[in-house]
Amino acid sequence: MAFPVQRLRRLRSTESIRSLVRETRLTPAQFVLPLFACPGEGVRKDISSMPGHAQLSVDLLLPECADCAELGIGGVILFGIPEEKDESASGAYDPHGITQRAVRAIKKEFPKLLVMTDVCNCEYTSHGHCGFVRDGKVDNDLTLDWLAKTAVSHVCAGADIVAPSDMMDGRVGAIRDALDAAGFHGTPILSYAAKYASAFYGPFREAAESAPQFGDRRSYQMDCANGREAMREIELDLEEGADMIMVKPAMAYLDVIRAARERFDVPLGAYQVSGEFSMIMAAARNGWIEQDRAMMESLTSIRRAGADFILTYFAKAASRALA
Ligand code: PBG
Repeated sequence: MAFPVQRLRRLRSTESIRSLVRETRLTPAQFVLPLFACPGEGVRKDISSMPGHAQLSVDLLLPECADCAELGIGGVILFGIPEEKDESASGAYDPHGITQRAVRAIKKEFPKLLVMTDVCNCEYTSHGHCGFVRDGKVDNDLTLDWLAKTAVSHVCAGADIVAPSDMMDGRVGAIRDALDAAGFHGTPILSYAAKYASAFYGPFREAAESAPQFGDRRSYQMDCANGREAMREIELDLEEGADMIMVKPAMAYLDVIRAARERFDVPLGAYQVSGEFSMIMAAARNGWIEQDRAMMESLTSIRRAGADFILTYFAKAASRALA
């Protein structure tokens, strides 16, 4: 039975019908807002490529978190920009480092707000790579120790979830061991399991001052051409003890999100990265697309592909649009 008996337009005729049969819904609880913590007080350094976003000193992060709590946003993920960078990323695992201070302040004020931390070294190394550089190369195994120490220091400060984004092999296992040894058996790991070497991180590197000073990240982040390899990355991270997995970026990797959804029965996040945000904002500011519609469509597509939650710079704007 086809046309004229079947007419799919019947269920599109009014907003109330469309709403009834909508397959994918968005709620603020599915969003996680990335925040950039910087030293000082009363400091707000706007990120030119990411309108509405800024590096914020710890005191100014608190009003952002208040907004998140009020809007019912799922949580925040913190990135730190330290006073100083060095060869050994010491700011990353300093118990009084910028991220640790930010976590403490936020959890004190908003104990119920979910606080995740990005566990990586690139914001803390003088060369901007995500690990220990020896003879011009990132040494995988030596980096694991920094990551483990960093994760433990974040949880000591009060982080609810740690999210390693460095793409070293074995880091989830190293972090799990270190957390367990420190008594943090109950702290989940959200692994940036399938993280690609992507041009869409451009604005973030301005935001986090983390661009590599030489070379690129292709020896540790994934090749954008590879989908099957993402499944192996995820499988290994789960074996090492990841509680949740993530695909990053989102929009150019919706097929990877879908494949991961079909294959793994664990909570799946996706990161709508800085470049995805900036592209929409830039086009909207030029009057080329409608910002709110493009925002909602992009977020819906990520959920439709299979992500349970989305790390997004639109977390507040989308939550307001849904209210
Ligand atoms: C740290 C990290 C990056 C992002 C999240 N964690 C940058 C990178 O890998 O270069 C990118 C996030 C974004 O673009 O919004 N390694």
